[in-house]
Amino acid sequence: MNVRGKTILVTGAGRGIGRSLATHFAGKGANLALLDVNADDVNETRARCTQLGVTARSYLADAANEDSVVGALGRVMEDFGALDGLINNAGIVRDGMLIKVKDGQVVGKMSLAQWQAVIDTNLTGVFLCAREAAQHMISRNVRGVIVNVSSISRAGLSAGSVSPMKSPTRSASSSRTTSLPAAAWRSMRGCDSELQDAMQNKRFVPGRFVREILYNIIDSNQLVTDI
Ligand SMILES: NC(=O)c1ccc[n+]([C@@H]2O[C@H](COP(=O)([O-])OP(=O)(O)OC[C@H]3O[C@@H](n4cnc5c(N)ncnc54)[C@H](O)[C@@H]3O)[C@@H](O)[C@H]2O)c1
Repeated sequence: MNVRGKTILVTGAGRGIGRSLATHFAGKGANLALLDVNADDVNETRARCTQLGVTARSYLADAANEDSVVGALGRVMEDFGALDGLINNAGIVRDGMLIKVKDGQVVGKMSLAQWQAVIDTNLTGVFLCAREAAQHMISRNVRGVIVNVSSISRAGLSAGSVSPMKSPTRSASSSRTTSLPAAAWRSMRGCDSELQDAMQNKRFVPGRFVREILYNIIDSNQLVTDI
């Protein structure tokens, strides 16, 4: 994929896979719009991309919040003029037991807030960012690409994981990947037929990567080799 000179928006770009994807594409000559809730982290990613000779800007925004996403995408369009790719990477895990039992007694249960936080980021966030990005791509007649980062846990829990919410949200973001283009194309009926294939939708399914505690001792660029 030739991304030189293209503008790519990465959500959750402050660290981990998002940062690796951002610097990977910066190394291939793409300009980066970097969205995250953590200012220090996303500014560090921006600095690393800029060092690679491309234009990179950071946007402090919550992918799960409609006003935040609409505002950030609007600023991206003002700054870059076009959007060629979105990588829906922002995601969270809230490990925890549905019900915690000790000596045969229920001593705890997962809170609705824990559940909702994961749904909001991993599912609603994908919807909001894809909707806004697709709108800007289509209105500017850009043949854009949207990549949804999913997980091998979309098919069920992986060994050692204690996160009952991750599988359903990642399963849903995977199926959203196939339903998004259809929905977008339906909405484009009556438009120029060339727009019918204006939006491609992709899914990226990582296995289990090291988490932040190991990022300090492993070059995070090794996490993403090609896409
Ligand atoms: N690390 C793994 O083993 C693994 C495996 C499979 C899938 N994934 C998926 O890959 C993606 C990235 O995982 P990671 O391990 O790099 O995560 P991470 O926790 O290291 O980084 C996630 C980044 O997203 C940001 N973020 C979280 N919520 C946000 C929100 N609402 N709005 C904007 N930014 C937000 C965080 O601040 C952070 O910078 C996730 O979607 C995750 O489900 C990860």
